[in-house]
Amino acid sequence: MENDPRRSRSRVTVDGPERAPHRSMYRAMGLTDADFRNPFVGVANLATEVTPCNFHLDQVAREVKTGIREAGGTPIEFPAITVSDAIAMGHQGMKGSLISREIIADSIEVVTFAEGFDALVAVGGCDKNLPGILMAAVRLNIPTVVLYGGTMMPGVFQGKAVSVEDVFEAVGAHAAGRIDDAELDALERAACPGPGTCGGLFTANTMGTLVETLGMARLGTSAVPAMHPDRAARAREVGQQVMATLDSNIRPKDIITLKSLENAVRVAAALGGSTNAVLHLMAIAGEAGIAITLEDFDRISRETPHIGNLKPGGEYLMAHLHEAGGVPLILRRLMDAGLLHEDVLTITGKTLGEEVRNYPLPDSELASRVVYPVEKPLHPDGALAILRGNVAPDGAVLKLTDPSGQVQFTGPARVFDGEEAAFQAISAGRVQSGDVVVIRYEGPKGGPGMREMLSVTAAIIGQGHVSDVAMVTDGRFSGATRGPMVGHVAPEAWVGGPLALIRDGDRITIDSQKRQITVDLTAEELEARRAAWQRPAPRYTAGALAKYQRLFSSASLGARTTLGES
Ligand code: FES
Repeated sequence: MENDPRRSRSRVTVDGPERAPHRSMYRAMGLTDADFRNPFVGVANLATEVTPCNFHLDQVAREVKTGIREAGGTPIEFPAITVSDAIAMGHQGMKGSLISREIIADSIEVVTFAEGFDALVAVGGCDKNLPGILMAAVRLNIPTVVLYGGTMMPGVFQGKAVSVEDVFEAVGAHAAGRIDDAELDALERAACPGPGTCGGLFTANTMGTLVETLGMARLGTSAVPAMHPDRAARAREVGQQVMATLDSNIRPKDIITLKSLENAVRVAAALGGSTNAVLHLMAIAGEAGIAITLEDFDRISRETPHIGNLKPGGEYLMAHLHEAGGVPLILRRLMDAGLLHEDVLTITGKTLGEEVRNYPLPDSELASRVVYPVEKPLHPDGALAILRGNVAPDGAVLKLTDPSGQVQFTGPARVFDGEEAAFQAISAGRVQSGDVVVIRYEGPKGGPGMREMLSVTAAIIGQGHVSDVAMVTDGRFSGATRGPMVGHVAPEAWVGGPLALIRDGDRITIDSQKRQITVDLTAEELEARRAAWQRPAPRYTAGALAKYQRLFSSASLGARTTLGES
């Protein structure tokens, strides 16, 4: 056992007379001689009481640890932080959300590095969990399996399945006088019936889908709802799986490659998943040293039929996808159409093609309603578009949720410095049909932290402007956002990007077919305004927000913390 190659890292921490103090510390926690002879598997458990998304993860991690022990490993559990994107939404707290992705990555990396684990399982739920976990996995490059904690079950209100997205939109409807206090209160009580992540194909569920697509999770684990009776068994299998992955010495960088990232982009486009996937996949690629650009996202999206009939753009929730066949159903549809690289490696040592083609799909009549056949898609193109133009020379992201599958919009700018000013104007009915709401100084550095504008976009919808008001921002929008919304505008206003120069009344055009976002200003006019522009004073000069403001890269590079790029 001493020369067990699987123990190449933990051996350094527990073998030999000089490590008696270390073993002594472990014995204080109940470890035995037998435990020291087994590989040490870190179990990053992102359980927390700050959000229902992760509320149940202690139970999940417990099953994972049982599986690890059954397969001859020694599990060592440790925590990492989580910020609840829904509860942070709509106020200054959201600035902590993207920062939390970096802290999750850093903390898993640091603990695993310091403790010398031989392998890793990470269990997460809320939006930033899986991206942070994958970033850490790539940095550490030790055998790793990721387990997504699962979605919340749908709430039921007035006979319809609802999620927290409906509550956000109801706030706008309430402000517009379209629903009364009693209806808002009843919906609030019905929408979130228990633990799990927000129910639609918002950011967390999108990333759950992609972690399976990438081959870093066991096939069929992500769509299982948090409270589903199968979840415990799946979690135990993950514990067993990580030992097999360690035996085969399969590492994240063997799995996360340009091809597997292209598969992930393909699935995000086919499903109409959250635009945050663009940011997160670019950040993961950046950690892996893989060059993937916004143009790759646009190219793949153009070649990909939109087949996911999932909220916010469609009709169904993640729990319905589970009934219909889960992530393997999507992968099978795309694979049969020749749209995925089948030869990419997964944690099992099999290729994605072998895994998916051998996965037993249920005979579900829901399947073709939740995920359309590739031959009869919702739209011929994918749901992500990368725009450029004199508003966003380094790119911006548009999610095509309109039933037409396209956006063609021209209107006068209504410019707001920050989310709060925009929300107040919209809620007071001061934004009119035809307006383009510009929200700036909300980018990675300007916010800092690139807040999600769900309160604003939900207020726009709630006021009845489903597709007749557009929004353009250097912040993000939530996975739950719908309507003609452009985010991730780069360069951001804080670094003097064109968004900083736009004034009320300037006419902005969003053209998804031409992939353009432009303002009707000449280069000379933009230059003259730039010469007169002054950066606002930073909102934070100390603490975590000031620190991360300095470290964030551009949204066009994934807004990850770097020591180099600006
Ligand atoms: Fe965690 Fe929505 S708040 S997934």
